[in-house]
Amino acid sequence: MKALIEPVRLNDETSELILLDQTLLPGKVEYLHLTTQESIWEAIYKLQVRGAPAIGIAAGYGVYLGAKASNATTYEEFKKDFDKSKDYLASSRPTAVNLFWALERMASRLEKEKSKTVLEMKSALLEESNQILLDDEEVCQSIGKFGADLLKDGMTILTHCNAGAIATSGFGTALAPVYVAKDQGKNISVYADETRPLLQGARLTAWELVESGVDTTLICDNMASIVMKEGKIDAIFVGCDRVALNGDTANKIGTSGVAILAKHYGIPFYVCAPMSTIDIECQTGADIHIEERPGTEITDMWYETPMAPSKVNTYNPAFDVTDHELITGIITEKGILRPNYKESISSIFDLA
Ligand code: MRU
Repeated sequence: MKALIEPVRLNDETSELILLDQTLLPGKVEYLHLTTQESIWEAIYKLQVRGAPAIGIAAGYGVYLGAKASNATTYEEFKKDFDKSKDYLASSRPTAVNLFWALERMASRLEKEKSKTVLEMKSALLEESNQILLDDEEVCQSIGKFGADLLKDGMTILTHCNAGAIATSGFGTALAPVYVAKDQGKNISVYADETRPLLQGARLTAWELVESGVDTTLICDNMASIVMKEGKIDAIFVGCDRVALNGDTANKIGTSGVAILAKHYGIPFYVCAPMSTIDIECQTGADIHIEERPGTEITDMWYETPMAPSKVNTYNPAFDVTDHELITGIITEKGILRPNYKESISSIFDLA
């Protein structure tokens, strides 16, 4: 299957990173044309590009564009400029490991090319950044196929946040099984949690599923329990921003509550995770840095007028960690991992 949409692309001739501006959806489908490091940093921070794989792809292109603009003539000077861009982009968001993974992948490629000319190093970095995108396309298709095997005609899934086409190279992780199943002629319906406070479910998941012709029902986050209790949900599929070695999984705030409910109602809970999102350096979820964002996202954003007294305290963690014991399976490009996750994750990473 072809990518459904192209949320992140590079125009190398004009040195522009082209991003679907996800903050304008579903009202407007508009693309940003970014040339400066500051605008790329801001696009990641403000969630104009978002979703762990898409952030990784954007960071790969971002660090390439930063290095491309360098006037260095030696490896040492070039590496200094590269590192400056890498460190800067790495400071944009803390939780999605794909950001750091992509930047490290670019750094390793540069290290391999260090004996070449600066021009050759630039072209190797271009190749590597393109490869990050191409690899993600394959990974998402593969996750889609493994996930679709779990779906029978007529099933309904529930998802949280947006782990769809626009959060990746263009096919999705948690929504990829739905797209593959649809392609196989299965009729799959989706309940989308609206996903407070930034409404990725209402604005993004609902938009891309409806555009793709998938039967979609939008619910508020606090309605997940009733739809599960009423027997409307056969399985939960969510994405992730970082998976620890023991299977604990960070994903959009509210995901852990969905997992707890799923366990209560006996509904399988699957995490769709490219291997680039598994952080074997994190032993457990306690090692995962949870991003905290401004309280105005809760009180003001998306409202015409502020919805809370200006003096109220706010707490706005952007992610939470789902305990590995609540996860039925982790769907990767290498297959569906089952508990014991420390063992199954170690085996796909060939850890002793
Ligand atoms: O803050 P966001 O919108 O970047 O959070 C995104 C998520 O939590 C997604 O579920 C995750 O990154 C997986 S995207 C394939």
